[in-house]
Amino acid sequence: MTREFTSVGVIGLGTMGAGIVEVFARNGIDVVAVDADESGVAHGKEVLAGSTGRALRREKMTQAEHDALHARVRFTTDLADLAGCQLVVEAVPEHLDLKKQIFARLDEIVGPEAVLATNTSSLPVTEIAVATRDPKRVVGMHFFNPAPVLQFVEVIRTVITADDVFEDVKALAERLGKKPVVVGDKAGFIANALLFGYLNHAVSMYESKYATREDLDAAMRFGCGYPMGPLQLLDLIGLDTAYEILDTMYKQGRDRLHAPSPIIKQMVSAGLLGRKSGRGFYTYAEPGSPEVVPDAWTPSGTLPTGVALREVASVGVVGSGTMATGIIEVFARAGHPVTFVARSDEKVAAVLTALGVVFQGAVDVVAQNAPAFVASGLVLVLLLVLMRVVGAERSHLDDLAAKVHVDEFEAAADYPRVAKFGAHLLRRGAGGDVVILGVDIQQQVAHATTDQVGLVAGSLQTLDHADGVPTDLVALEWMLATAQHFGRAAWAWSTAQR
Ligand code: CAA
Repeated sequence: MTREFTSVGVIGLGTMGAGIVEVFARNGIDVVAVDADESGVAHGKEVLAGSTGRALRREKMTQAEHDALHARVRFTTDLADLAGCQLVVEAVPEHLDLKKQIFARLDEIVGPEAVLATNTSSLPVTEIAVATRDPKRVVGMHFFNPAPVLQFVEVIRTVITADDVFEDVKALAERLGKKPVVVGDKAGFIANALLFGYLNHAVSMYESKYATREDLDAAMRFGCGYPMGPLQLLDLIGLDTAYEILDTMYKQGRDRLHAPSPIIKQMVSAGLLGRKSGRGFYTYAEPGSPEVVPDAWTPSGTLPTGVALREVASVGVVGSGTMATGIIEVFARAGHPVTFVARSDEKVAAVLTALGVVFQGAVDVVAQNAPAFVASGLVLVLLLVLMRVVGAERSHLDDLAAKVHVDEFEAAADYPRVAKFGAHLLRRGAGGDVVILGVDIQQQVAHATTDQVGLVAGSLQTLDHADGVPTDLVALEWMLATAQHFGRAAWAWSTAQR
């Protein structure tokens, strides 16, 4: 028998519960929304009104749809009101005893055909199920935050869940416009098991002052294309929830990746729960608001006293792989003469072909900065690069070193070669104007050329090595500003102060 699910209950009207209420009501299903007390109910109403009000303002919903959605939801503090529901989804805080208590009570309230689901993120669904007289009708139905937006639900099948219960819940998730995935009953299921190790790691970097919150978030947003950075996401999830998830996963799996970073618990104790309390890693306009407002840790955006930015005269790129080609393109698009070094004529040709494809559609972008080339178009744009390319590696390096100003951007994966290159440049007299940007390069260059290095920016992590050359902060600021100038988010990963 396939269940239709026309009336469902949701228990717990926090961030997740209120979002789940909205998901059901938006899809034409009647909802009994329960919380333990009036303040919980008031919170649920407020979240629902906020979200549907925004949809109304943005004209994603008509007034009639808005009103009909609200008419489908009945708020209550009495679990007994769930009596007529065909499905109940529990979304209370992540405490096993509390959940077991609720499920045991539901046995007395709902009909024998009703399905019981928990939205737990990490607690064992099987243990919750066995708190009832009929564990076969219990499943996990794990939504993601914000539930109305994210089209994903994990359906957790225990060893005892009945086939029809499981299939009906999966079909319901599809009816709600979500992609259901099926997963066994293991802490964190799929998504949280993968996600929370990463989030926890980000917190420990923040806690050890390895990088600022803005830079950590920028790294993952702009560097990896995530919709939010890890600390922004933790503020959205709620630090109390995040703590419970990590703690549960850690207790079950003993994987140190999941041992909650101490600062999470401290922030929870201090009431810094994220967006919902108005302050977490960031400060928000008011509790529940997504709007970040400046606070004492917000970067001023101005350069430190005494720092003056230099003009980029020319740019050299070592390498001809995907990264090097992309970097050449970025600088060339911004109108800078670029010299690049490749290991063979074939590699040089491959880079030029790749750039040709790009610049066919973007001649005007380059031309804005090089008016002389406007008329000649593509051919001259390519020449701009081509003229600076010669055959063997050694002559390339000499070419670069012969310049008075060489601002070098490293893109080679092979660090010893880059170190050799840096040393070569410096020996050839490019000294004080060489800025080498790159990962873990500083120490290697320093070995060969300590007394000659003018400004070497890069991985400040190497400050940890006694023989490293302390990075000049002026150079670092220059590097960040340069990257930003080229429309790239930049960050310094460092144990030093910025
Ligand atoms: N409630 C309802 N709707 C919301 C919302 C919320 N809290 N936040 C945003 N929206 C809606 C907006 O109204 C907007 O809708 P329309 O396009 O229809 O107007 C849409 O979502 C996009 O919002 P914005 O334009 O304001 O912002 P955005 O494009 O940056 O998207 C985001 C915001 C959807 C939150 C996006 O940043 C995102 O997907 N972030 C990642 C979230 C994530 O990873 N969640 C998983 C957390 S882990 C978890 O939930 C499991 C657990 O057990 C804790």
